[in-house]
Amino acid sequence: MDNFVFQNHTRIYFGKGVVAEYLAKLLAPYGKNVLLAYGGGSIKRTGVYDAVTAELRAAGKTVFDFPGIMANPTKAKVDEGIRLVKEKNIDFILAVGGGSAIDCAKAIAIGSRYEGDWWNDFWLNQGSIDFQQLPLGVVLTISGTGSEFDGGGVITNTETNIKTGRIYPELSPDFSLLDPDYTLTVPERQVRATAFDTMSHLMEFYFCKPDTDNVSDDLLEALLRAQIRNFRSSMKDLKNYDARSNIEWISSLALCGIMGLAKQPDFDCHNLEHQIGAFTDCIHGEGLAVITPAYYRWLMPHAVDRFVRFAVNVWGLAPQGDDRALAAAGVEALADFIRSVGLPTTLQQLGVKDMAEVDRIARSVQTGPGSYKKCTAADVEAIFRACWE
Ligand code: NZQ
Ligand code: ZN
Repeated sequence: MDNFVFQNHTRIYFGKGVVAEYLAKLLAPYGKNVLLAYGGGSIKRTGVYDAVTAELRAAGKTVFDFPGIMANPTKAKVDEGIRLVKEKNIDFILAVGGGSAIDCAKAIAIGSRYEGDWWNDFWLNQGSIDFQQLPLGVVLTISGTGSEFDGGGVITNTETNIKTGRIYPELSPDFSLLDPDYTLTVPERQVRATAFDTMSHLMEFYFCKPDTDNVSDDLLEALLRAQIRNFRSSMKDLKNYDARSNIEWISSLALCGIMGLAKQPDFDCHNLEHQIGAFTDCIHGEGLAVITPAYYRWLMPHAVDRFVRFAVNVWGLAPQGDDRALAAAGVEALADFIRSVGLPTTLQQLGVKDMAEVDRIARSVQTGPGSYKKCTAADVEAIFRACWE
């Protein structure tokens, strides 16, 4: 294996009843003023808000609500949170929700302790945190992004139509409480989208160099098989606790850092999707479902052996002597799966208006260095056009 350094400082508390059991104790070392960051109100409807605030009161904290964090959180919302943190002398942020609430909290944690332009210096460009950011913890209510167990945060600037994510190890939450029961109220459409988001994270670490024997690849295949199995079970019965708890933990594992060790990941499915989100505000996992088969059809000829391995070890297809055909069959098995669980398959379904908009979105994408093959601007345009209908 290639060299690596690994650290993830987040403590995970997983299972039924973890909020009542641990939250008040976990809050003890932090200051009195807590910013409670959450979304559009699901936590009030489900009772999670009452459960969490009861623990905050038990811990003697003064709570300042910061509601209304939208899916695909915006720079403007982060700025609003930064102002509130400064005005109320906040000591700690507790994000209650999913990727959107957590990512917004992460950006506030940096922006409220930084005098310069946080968007330009930490999101538009990769910065380095040489100051103490505000500490944060998480109560997770929807799984999929892995934001509860990583230092990543994705923010949308609606003025410039740029949605971009950065990873800062310092932003890994101090603790994350994962009670799978809290996720059982998530609507079916979101369960589908977020379960596919996790599959995408796993595939992005899988479809990349190097091809030398690396246990990360074996782990990724095992997690992909488990995710597909539990995804199917969840679609049959959304309240299946075993399936939904597995999905939640696989999501956390996917981005905790271990899966990418000694690999050179290719995050371009995400880079392409983020710009669809910036223009259409689509659900992140649905955007990925549309882009992913087209992206891997494009990549497959440059990594036939890896796609053969995917076809055999993830989808259970039988070797047939023609590697190229087997590799292609693996990608089509993925596309069939996406259709079978009812995810969208075209840009039109995501709300992209016409071909002119397809091209505008394509031109706004900044791809990464790639791994098997660099995706050029012309490749991006062709991939987007292939997803139109
Ligand atoms: O806003 P509320 O009312 O809370 O409703 C939310 C929201 O509408 C609802 N929901 C959440 N928990 C629920 C629930 N409804 C009923 N019962 C519950 N228990 O679900 C909707 C989606 O929530 P959101 O937090 O937006 O979803 P998700 O966790 O998928 O986060 C998406 C954001 O994370 C970014 C995405 O790009 C997107 O902006 N990502 C973050 C990553 C990271 N930090 O590492 C990596 C990912 O690849 C991703 O890009
Ligand atoms: Zn994602």
